[in-house]
This record gives sequence, structure tokens and C-alpha cells, in this order.
Amino acid sequence: MVESGNFYGFLESERLYLRAVLPNDANEAYCRWMNDPEVNKYLESRFYPHTQETLRDYVTGKLGDVESPFFAIVLKKGDRHIGNIKLGPINTIHRFADIGIIIGERDCWGKGYATEAIRLIVKYAFDTLNLHKVTAGFYEPNLQSMKAFANAGFSQEGVRKSHCYCDGKYVDDILFGLVRS
Ligand SMILES: CC(C)(COP(=O)(O)OP(=O)(O)OC[C@H]1O[C@@H](n2cnc3c(N)ncnc32)[C@H](O)[C@@H]1OP(=O)(O)O)[C@@H](O)C(=O)NCCC(=O)NCCS
Repeated sequence: MVESGNFYGFLESERLYLRAVLPNDANEAYCRWMNDPEVNKYLESRFYPHTQETLRDYVTGKLGDVESPFFAIVLKKGDRHIGNIKLGPINTIHRFADIGIIIGERDCWGKGYATEAIRLIVKYAFDTLNLHKVTAGFYEPNLQSMKAFANAGFSQEGVRKSHCYCDGKYVDDILFGLVRS
């Protein structure tokens, strides 16, 4: 189980597959993503330093966590781990969950991979977990994130004005959602 990463099953699309993030994934590349100011500039994780050790602890703690499935985004071509996507925590009463995503390999940006991964996890949320709704939140300047979620069918539900401090100023927090239809 642990070796294969098959905690939540494998999710597969044309160019990608998703599998559980494993302790061995806490390598130099993952550490580089998390500490890269270009990658983390809109992420809350930027306020903490990350080492392979802290990442390994984090990943180990999430192994098999059914309340927050945590998937590696892997390119089928070359079997390359390019980022992670998380669904959760799952609210089992109202049946919704939030999605967080990072494509850490910057040469992979703008190729539709986030859109493809979001579509996969949305299908998993609705068809496998029987959730009613998925949500996502991001800083207003994060246009890439906004477009990726919009491409995957999300729409804007709200704005928390001047909510987050980013690059020396306060920015809005945009709330997106997608209801199962
Ligand atoms: C946000 C992120 C996940 C998007 O990943 P991605 O694989 O590049 O996304 P996609 O290619 O699926 O879609 C990105 C869209 O943004 C567009 N885009 C890329 N850079 C842009 C920019 N600087 N300004 C406006 N749009 C931009 C792309 O053209 C594409 O739109 P299109 O499909 O209409 O052409 C990735 O940039 C990332 O991981 N960033 C760091 C972490 C982060 O911010 N995560 C999200 C927190 S909620």
C-alpha cells in the first residue's frame, strides 16, 4: 500500500495521473518548490521554511488521511512528479471540501496541467466521494489560479475584501465554488 501510493486509488486523465503523496516524494525538488518565492508567493506556506525533513513529516502525517486526500500530480510522460493537489478537509455533514493545488515545476505552468488535475479531483469528489460541492480560494492577483479553476467549471461566489497581506499590500481573497449538477 505505502509503496504503491494506492490509498485513494489512481486517478487518470490524458496526460496526468494522481496518486497519494508518499514520504519518498519529500525530495529536493518538492523542497525547492515550497521555498521558491515565485511558486509560493500566493501561498500561506511561504511564511514557514521547508526542509526535506519537515516535508517528510507532513507527508507521513497525511498518509491514508481520508478526510483530506492528498495527491501527487504526475506527468505520464517521463513519470514526472510536478505538483500536488489536496481535497479537504471534507465536511461530512454538508458534503463539501476545499481544493488546494501547487504545480511546483515552473516549466510546467501554462500548459493546462492544473486545469486537468482540478477536473480529475472534482470528478473524484463527486463520483467517488459523493460530495455535493467543491470550493477554492485564492488571492486576487493569482490570475493563473483563477483561470485554472474557471476552466474546470468553478465560478466566483464571494470576495473577502482586503483579506490577505501580499507583496506589501492587502489583497482580496476570492472564493470560488462548483456545485454538483
Ligand atoms: C496556479 C497554478 C496551479 C496554475 O497552474 P497551471 O498548470 O499553470 O494552470 P493551467 O495551465 O491549467 O491554467 C493557467 C491559466 O492561466 C493563464 N496564465 C498563466 N500565467 C498567467 C498570468 N501571469 N496572468 C494571467 N493568466 C495567466 C494560462 O494561460 C491559463 O489560462 P488559459 O487556459 O485560459 O490559457 C500554478 O501557477 C501554481 O501552482 N502556482 C503556485 C501555487 C499557487 O498559486 N497555487 C494556487 C493556490 S489556490
